[in-house]
Parts: sequence; C-alpha cells; structure tokens
Amino acid sequence: MEFRNSIHSNLFFELGLNRNQKIYSLNNVPVHGKIPDWLNGTFLRNGPGMLNIKNRRLNHWFDAMGALHKFDIRDGKVDYSCRFIECDSYDGVIESGDLKFSEFATDPCKSIFKKVQSYVFPSLPNMTDNPKINVARIGEKWMALGETPMQVEFDPKTLKKIGVSEPVPGAFSYKTTAHPHFDKEHAYNLVVKFGMISYYKIYDVAKPGGKPLASIPIKKPAYIHGFGMTKKYFIITAGPLVVVPIELLFWKRPYIENHKWRPQDGASIWVIEKESGKVKAYFETDPFFCFHHVNAWEEGNEIIMDINAYDDASIIQKYYLRELEQPDVELPFGTIRRFRLNLSTKKADIQIISNACIELPRIDYNRYNTESNYRFTYGVSLNPNERKGFYNSVVKINVQTGENSYWFETGCYPGEPVFYPSPKSKSDQDGVLLSIVLDTKTQNSFLLILDATTMNEIARAGLPEPIVYGFHGDFFPAI
Ligand SMILES: [Fe+2]
Repeated sequence: MEFRNSIHSNLFFELGLNRNQKIYSLNNVPVHGKIPDWLNGTFLRNGPGMLNIKNRRLNHWFDAMGALHKFDIRDGKVDYSCRFIECDSYDGVIESGDLKFSEFATDPCKSIFKKVQSYVFPSLPNMTDNPKINVARIGEKWMALGETPMQVEFDPKTLKKIGVSEPVPGAFSYKTTAHPHFDKEHAYNLVVKFGMISYYKIYDVAKPGGKPLASIPIKKPAYIHGFGMTKKYFIITAGPLVVVPIELLFWKRPYIENHKWRPQDGASIWVIEKESGKVKAYFETDPFFCFHHVNAWEEGNEIIMDINAYDDASIIQKYYLRELEQPDVELPFGTIRRFRLNLSTKKADIQIISNACIELPRIDYNRYNTESNYRFTYGVSLNPNERKGFYNSVVKINVQTGENSYWFETGCYPGEPVFYPSPKSKSDQDGVLLSIVLDTKTQNSFLLILDATTMNEIARAGLPEPIVYGFHGDFFPAI
C-alpha cells in the first residue's frame, strides 16, 4: 500500500511547515461520520503559527511564533478557531517585522551583545516568552507552555492572553520543559538553571514562588525536553547533548547550536524521592536522546520507565526546515525503550519494546500515568516500509506485547493523537484519539476522530484551510 510520494511530501512541506497560519474562526465545521454523543468539550492544540518573518524563513520547526487552535465539540457539532499566542516575542515580530528575541535555532539580526539578553536569561529584559509547545490546565489557569519559564495564561473561550506567569521567580537564568507532570493538586516541572554551577531543579509550578523540591548540581547541562515521574519518584534523564554554560554567555550561535553531542559521556539518569528531594539512585547508560517520556512506575525494587528514544540527537538536525524541505528526508526512527532501573544494584536494563517508529507519544495520562497496568501508547509514525518524508500515520503500540497498528491515508500527515476515554472506559484503549491531519489531496486540514480500540475512523471535521503542523494539545471536557 502506498503511503506517500514526493508530490505529497513537497506539498506537505509547503502547506504544513513553510507558511504562516491563516487566522479565522468557523462555526459548524462540516462533519463526516458521527461524533460520539459523549464527546463534548474542547480540543486545544499548540504549535507553530508563523515560520516566515519579514523576508526570511526561520531555521527550525521549533523556532516559530506560536498559535493556538481550538475545536469546540458539542452534540456532534464542531466549531473551530485559532489565534496567534500574544507575547512579547510575537508582539516584537509584529512591531519590528523581525525577531526581537533568540529562538531555538534562529537568532535576531542583532549584535552579539543583544543576543546575550535572550533565550535563557530571563532576569534580563530581552528574554523570549514564546510558549508555542503545549497547553495545560495548571490550577485554575489555562497555560500555553514553552521551554522558557515565562508562560502565557490564556482565556480558553477566546484564546486571548490573560497574563504572563513566572512560576519560578528570581533565578539568574534558566530553562524549563513544556511537559509538566500532574499529581492531585500538584504540577511538577523540571527547570535547568544555568550559571557557573548549573542545576537541574524540580518545582511545583502549581504553587508559584515555592522552593525547589529537588536540586542537582551539574557541570554541563543537557538539552532536556521532558522528565519522568512515578508515584514516589521523579526521574531525570539526560542524554549527552550538553552545553558548557559559559558559551551561552558569549552566544556566538543560536541556543541549541551551543549544545554538543558527546557520546563518550554516556547518558545519566537520576531517580529522586519526591518527598525528600534526595537522589535515591543514579545510573549511567550508553548514550541515547529523547524528547518525550511515556510512562514510569515502581515495581518491587525497580523503576520501570518507558521513553521515546533515539540512538543520538540527529533528530534535532533533521527538524531544520532546510532538511524537512527535502522530499527524500529520512527522519531517525524513535522507538519506545523500556528501562528497568534496579534501585539496589544501580544497574539499568534496556530493551526496545517495538520497532515501530513513534514520536509525539501519548497515553491515557489521567488514569494510567505511574500505573503498571498501562498497555498502550499512541503517536505519529512513519510507514515501516517507507522511511522517507514526514510523519504520515498514527501508530498504536501495545507496550506489553510490542504489537502495533496504524491509521493512515494517502497524502495525509496526522499530528499528535490525543487520547480521551469513553464514559465507561475499562482500559487505555477504550476511547477516542483526536488528531489534526493535514491532507495534501485537498490541501486542507481536518480534525480526525479515531476509535482507539480499532484505529478506525469514527468522524472527521474538515476545515477550509491547512493548519501548520504543530506539537501538543489536549482535550478538556466542558470548559
Ligand atoms: Fe514535546
């Protein structure tokens, strides 16, 4: 079966990654199929909205000004709207026509001195606050999240900015993740503080202004996009894509390009007690890189941790737009790797659960995060028979058996599949997946709703415009 060809791939790049989002709203989006009666709420998704600024294209998928997308689903009907995320970084682009702050892999056209006042130095006035990666409800606030600690609170009804939250005040310079973990009333996040001595710190960001729950000194901090959590422990994994912090002070190149891949250093894993903040165990393993943790739990004297891992960090290079515009681009295969971390012997046993390519992995987080009986993870994927081009399918992986199944359609490029359980759901496949799909055949996008058990389509809501290919979102019942 044909998954893609170069025509689809070229069109995907032009529609999904080489343009700026058209901002509009539309009531009663045409729906094909029947949306389940019980699926009432709002699907929010964050991601790039503007990749071309002034007369230049930004360098990397992660550089863009952000846009929020909202699908309100009520009684089988769908309303859609989108909006650029209002922040100083976005305002600067609108006012000056060019980047005002350094982004992930693109710097403003400014002096080196100005560049110093940017990405990771939030105590200085010129920091970026571009939260384009994820959305989360933290306490009573709806937050757009990025990798710098200034994150934007927005109104979920209008998507308008309410204010800026700085959950970790007073640090000299730091960076965070867009993937907090939730546990009852807590929302935990990892913060990397850069300085003469750098630190990995964990904060409860639901309680701004609090002290760190854990603090680990580190000479060469790694680029970290997420972390793990069990009921009793935090887990920090650091692959050897590291930066010497003093180089950030001189800032001769964009943020991520200050990091170097040092496989000779291997990877480091810290297991930290949530209650005391003390390191329970430290592990060194062969090098690996990951953006996303999938799940983790305790089992006897072991921690079991599933992550979406790669052999190295070359995936970051492949996400440069100059790479993605090549029709025959070959993305590295991320796979689910299971780490068994023995807290007594301090030995880590690692196995690949499935050979299926996966990225943007999701689980039934609210019910199965930290639980040993979780069975399924869902993500975007590549056809196992066709390794070229961008993610062209949704994959479901049974993490107990390694079996996998796919949804695909010729010319379609689905985004992150978000799981939401049915009302009487008895397992983590008993529900639906929601994914925004870019269809190069119609040159538009649609909201796809899949039956997570069968991976068959239930319904789709078609838009009259393509949506720039994004990152993360979530479904929130009854806003
Ligand atoms: Fe992410």
